[in-house]
Amino acid sequence: MLIKNGSHKDLTWLRQLNLKPVSSAYSTPSGAMFCHDSIEMLRRMPSDSVDLVMTSPPFALTRKKEYGNEPVERYLEWFMPFCLEIKRVLKSTGSFVLDIGGAWIPGAPVRSIYHFELAVKLAKEFYLAQEFYWYNPARLPTPAEWVTVRRVRVKDAVNMVWWFSKTEWPKADNRAILQPYSESMKDLLKNGYKAKKRPSGHAISTKFQKNNGGSIPPNLLQIANTDSNGAYLRECKKRGIKPHPARFPSTLVKFFLDFLTDEDDLVVDPFAGSNVTGEACEIQNRRWLGFELESRYVEGSIIRFESGNLFQQDASKPRKKQPKKTDGRTRPKSVKKRKSTKSVTKNG
Ligand SMILES: C[S@@+](CC[C@H](N)C(=O)[O-])C[C@H]1O[C@@H](n2cnc3c(N)ncnc32)[C@H](O)[C@@H]1O
Repeated sequence: MLIKNGSHKDLTWLRQLNLKPVSSAYSTPSGAMFCHDSIEMLRRMPSDSVDLVMTSPPFALTRKKEYGNEPVERYLEWFMPFCLEIKRVLKSTGSFVLDIGGAWIPGAPVRSIYHFELAVKLAKEFYLAQEFYWYNPARLPTPAEWVTVRRVRVKDAVNMVWWFSKTEWPKADNRAILQPYSESMKDLLKNGYKAKKRPSGHAISTKFQKNNGGSIPPNLLQIANTDSNGAYLRECKKRGIKPHPARFPSTLVKFFLDFLTDEDDLVVDPFAGSNVTGEACEIQNRRWLGFELESRYVEGSIIRFESGNLFQQDASKPRKKQPKKTDGRTRPKSVKKRKSTKSVTKNG
């Protein structure tokens, strides 16, 4: 399955992406990881060829990671050229999902607004389809000086995950990410609900009684960044490899793969690190490309595609075929046109 230093024979689609002059560090029948500067790789790729860019770039951190981080003052200047290439390679139905953490101003218990400035700037290039908040309950109480020593701030446990799109109608389907109903909703479905107006003015009709197979998730994603990297960490320890210091959880990637892409769609992570994105794509049957500058992370990431890892455990499970997603303009057949929106009031 895994080919080191080259392209798998089944990766015929790779030829059409003009990446051939650069050799991949490893590949599978579904994707390839390149140890190369992603700006150069993106520039090689044809326009309108990618369904989803899912990534977490280096943040503008005060306490720098070992791979280096651009300071707040230079962040936008550094990051925008990548974003413009991302926009070019995305299909009109494509999405750009960006996980980005906040930062503190050095020496003071106050926050930088660089990630909001970035969002404002990106919203002029892309459409802001929706903002998500990734709440990581396992986050450490840092910066210690403000949180645990002087006790004047609380722990920063939320990352912004900006969902940008190239057009107003990216491909998406929330029926692919339904969550189990709460006990109270199960009770409501079983025992019925009396249609009435809520204090907010929203009219709740008896349609709420229909079982749709699960509840629609909110834009607050609670994911502890612990277990999903377990197999990778165990294997790193066994082989004496230093794990990547800033991995995101595969559950976060899986959420957006299921929500925004179909099987065989092409997903690119231009700051791939330990290649969580590639691994999640393998499991979910998406084609993938990972670009990572540092060879030590690329070498470590191979673990995910070798023996004893998460990929092999999950890949053995049969995959359920999902219906193809639409670009959001086409109504799913099951949804009838609403006659009136009079009963719905907006906040404020
Ligand atoms: C926050 S980490 C991504 C971690 C990844 N999401 C994971 O879960 O393992 C950002 C990565 O971007 C890489 N990087 C920085 N500049 C790059 C560039 N120009 N091209 C490719 N990778 C780059 C860094 O080496 C680092 O590994």
